[in-house]
Amino acid sequence: MTISKIRQVESPGKINLFLEVLRRREDGYHELVTVMSRISLADHMNFTVLDNRLELNQTSASANDANALPAAEQNLIYRTLDRLRDRTGCSLGMRVDLIKRIPIQAGLGGASSNAATALCVANELWELGLTPRELADIANSLGSDIAFFLSPGPSVCRGRGEIVEPISIATSMPLLLVMPPFGLSTAAMFAALRLPEEPRSVEHLLAELQTVRAPFGNLSLFNRFEETARRQSPWFATIHRRLLDAGAVAAQMTGSGSCYFGIFPSESDAHAAAARLATDFPDCRFMVCRTID
Ligand code: C5P
Repeated sequence: MTISKIRQVESPGKINLFLEVLRRREDGYHELVTVMSRISLADHMNFTVLDNRLELNQTSASANDANALPAAEQNLIYRTLDRLRDRTGCSLGMRVDLIKRIPIQAGLGGASSNAATALCVANELWELGLTPRELADIANSLGSDIAFFLSPGPSVCRGRGEIVEPISIATSMPLLLVMPPFGLSTAAMFAALRLPEEPRSVEHLLAELQTVRAPFGNLSLFNRFEETARRQSPWFATIHRRLLDAGAVAAQMTGSGSCYFGIFPSESDAHAAAARLATDFPDCRFMVCRTID
């Protein structure tokens, strides 16, 4: 009797509490410093080992995203498994059933998280025995944010994002995510970015996070992409103000957008703000979640 190899895994998103872009590099990427934390909003992934073919079935929680999901072969999960087989000579296959809850083109890292999850699960189920270093090399050949999701917790990431140093955040923070009815392309946001003459330092925030406690005021949050986004749409300044009016202690865009988040003293405060704002922003998605370790 053969026992089919199956794994069910949650693949979490992330937010950027800090993101500064330092300079353009000769390879076309940008040197950056960012602080990222996983969040409790996660995609659900179901893996089943097959004889030799790769199969990806995607369903989405949002009608908007269902139309915008990339075709299976272009999906980063598919490309990750394909690259892993190329690098190792493994001929086994995999079926992945993906239930997408993390909005796409949002700056929440959903695709990178899915890729990191696929790398770890396939390494185990295909019994490849790759080391964390080897997995990170493959991750970096596929995207800049994937290495973060291979590391165990919140981190400060440097280089093009792939140099990951774990940090500690004293406590989990309640969040309200607000996803507008449009996404933003990471490549287009880097292309439109104005580089700072004097880059912001991450050091204040790193010190604050070590002792942060509710109600989470006075954190030195920052995102360089925020000014780029505000040049493109008045929505960002509006949602920032409205989140603060609704009780957020801080609010900011995550990554290269377009999702915005507010930090709230408690989860019930975040729910109350969602209820207050939902009628005025009927085309936005509101999601209450938390930062997680
Ligand atoms: O690495 P990833 O595929 O996520 O990046 C998408 C695009 O974002 C890159 O092709 C590049 O244009 C831009 N990028 C960048 N500098 C980084 C990360 C991404 O310019 N550090």
